[in-house]
Amino acid sequence: MPIIAPSLLSANFLKLGEESQMLNESAAEWFHLDVMDGSFVPNISFGLPVIAAIRKATNKICDVHLMIEQPDRYTEDFRKAGADILTVHIEACRHLHRNVQQIKALGMKAGVALNPHTPVEMLYDVLGDIDLVCLMSVNPGFGGQQFIPGTLDKIRTLRKRIDENKLDVLIEIDGGVTLENAPEIVKAGADVLVAGNTVFRSSDPKATISLLKGF
Ligand code: DX5
Ligand code: ZN
Repeated sequence: MPIIAPSLLSANFLKLGEESQMLNESAAEWFHLDVMDGSFVPNISFGLPVIAAIRKATNKICDVHLMIEQPDRYTEDFRKAGADILTVHIEACRHLHRNVQQIKALGMKAGVALNPHTPVEMLYDVLGDIDLVCLMSVNPGFGGQQFIPGTLDKIRTLRKRIDENKLDVLIEIDGGVTLENAPEIVKAGADVLVAGNTVFRSSDPKATISLLKGF
């Protein structure tokens, strides 16, 4: 069964307390928190104070996805805000190996995200050092976009590599996950499904999370 990580980017920001409570009562294991800087991606979302507030509202895993340039500048700040998993983009890091070590040294799990144009092979030399690969299945920056079908092949390639080398790395899929495509994504080898619009635009978000969990 996949881990479900609802993305708060699609939540009602005026009701973050209630939305967090709903997720606390749901089958979702993780909160996916998307941080955007208006430079790495063409959008600005929320930052440290919001994450610190959400941290107080949940005991679930806070999975922080940094879509920011040079994320190494803020590793410690995100730890203090309460991140359990810190994911940086390979395209935003000049010294990825060092960033990964920095994240782990602070006691967080280290994730690396790949944009749709980045081949999974780019990660092979650090795959043994990280805890999670976040494969972007849309171009990052906005919720509610269409899943890019080519992601399925990337999942299969990565799954094979991880299994053959007996690595302890989770594959997370981020962007355009729906009740229709989730079964295929899980079958291809995904461990974690991020879902923004599918959960928060649903008339019954908790039931939708349970359905996703069942795939
Ligand atoms: C996109 C973000 C995603 C986004 C997913 O840049 O990284 O986490 O919130 O939203 P949906 O599931 O609506 O595509
Ligand atoms: Zn994300």
